[in-house]
Formats: sequence, structure tokens, C-alpha cells
Amino acid sequence: MKYILAANWKSHPSSKDEAKRLLVGLSKNSDKFRKLHTIIAPPNTFLELVGSKIKSMGILASQDISLLSKGTYTGETTVEMLKGQGVMASIIGHSERRKLGETNSLISKKANQALKEGIAPIVCVGEDVHDTEGNYFEVLNAQIRGSLEGLKKTDAKKLVVAYEPLWAIGKSAKDAMQPNDLAQMIVYIRKVLTEMFGRASADQVAIIYGGSVEPGNAKELLGSGAQGFLVGHASLSAKSFVEIAKAMLNK
Ligand code: PGA
Repeated sequence: MKYILAANWKSHPSSKDEAKRLLVGLSKNSDKFRKLHTIIAPPNTFLELVGSKIKSMGILASQDISLLSKGTYTGETTVEMLKGQGVMASIIGHSERRKLGETNSLISKKANQALKEGIAPIVCVGEDVHDTEGNYFEVLNAQIRGSLEGLKKTDAKKLVVAYEPLWAIGKSAKDAMQPNDLAQMIVYIRKVLTEMFGRASADQVAIIYGGSVEPGNAKELLGSGAQGFLVGHASLSAKSFVEIAKAMLNK
């Protein structure tokens, strides 16, 4: 099995030159990225640039998709436009978009739209707080069911669920989830998916982890059963992203 290594550049880098430098650093290590399912999700302004370099490394993703098709929709980037740039996957329902008002219901519509358009959805879920009473299981259950509503068993093989607990995002390796806790969460997510899609289909869904994945914790986090990572800040340095890839390959 090839692990998934997805980069979420968020709203970085701030210039095309910086993006080019990052890509040069990554391209030098394309042999490693090819041994993984490497996905890069730059901001839309750099889709073309990343798209022109990514073929030797992996596939291009967007950080969101629109439900609207071409028309009078100021500010929207349509799926058709994304596909025109070579986008093959899309992060959907990232917690930073949920904070801007995206609901489970909207996210499920986007996931269905992505699948209909032949784009692999990377649907993000994750609790705000990992409380001692275990309420986060309920939170996650509702998020998974709500965000994947309407998906069919046959969609499972194209679906990636990214478990990203909010409290672990954007920190450092020591603040990331511990591998044992992550293992428990992955079993739970798989159980909810099994209830939704049946065992055989649920097993086809890739479950990855995001939240302060860095070179220092990538290897041990993979021991949890995660099938890969969604990496934020550590994907903005070629050096650390390559180190994460190496750690995954040495697992
Ligand atoms: P992080 O971000 O790696 O900086 O924690 C992950 C994400 O938000 O996707």
C-alpha cells in the first residue's frame, strides 16, 4: 500500500518566486514523492504553476470547490476551471472553512459534487476539544455522517477522510495527537464508515491524519494505522516536507 502525503499550502506562499523555490526543492526529491501518493493543494493562484511541475511527483488538488458552474458568480472558481488546471482532488470542509461558516450539509454537497465531476474529495473532520468525557466521539460521528451524506458505497474507493483535530492544528510535533490516541480515533472513524457504507466499502476509504505533522513525529504517527497525512505548515518548507516523505518511506 502506498501512503498518502498531502500538502495543504493554505494561503501561502506570498509570492510566485517563493512558490517556485519551494517547487524546485520538492522536484529534486521527486523519486521519493513518487513512492507515495503525493498531493499538493496550493492556493488557486498557484494551481497553474504547481500543475506544470507536479506530474513527476504526484497530483494537483484544490483547497475547496464551488457548487456553482460558470455564470455570474463574482469571486467563485468553478470546478470546470479547476479541472482545466489539472486538479484531480480537493480538500473539502477543512476546519478553517468550517470556521468561515461551512456546515456539514454544505460540505456533503461539495463532496457529492466533487465525485460527480471526477475529483477525489479529501473530506476533513475533527473535534474542537478532546475532552476527558469523550464527547468528541459524538461530535465526530455527527460530522462524518453529515459531511458524507448522499455518498454511495461505490464512492468509497475515491474518498479520503482527513481526521484533523482542531486543537492539534498549526502547532508543533509535541502538540500533535499521540499515536495511541490516533489509533483509537481511526478505529472509531472506520466503525462509523462501516455503519454507513458496509464493511467492504468502508475498508476502501483512506483515512489520513492532519495536525502538526512534522519530520519528528511522522514515522510514529503512521504506526497508528493512519494511511497518510495532510500536512500544513511543514509542507511550506521543501526540507521538512521531504523529511516527512522519507520518514513515511522508512516506516
Ligand atoms: P498543520 O495544518 O500541519 O499546520 O497543523 C494541517 C491542516 O490544517 O491541514
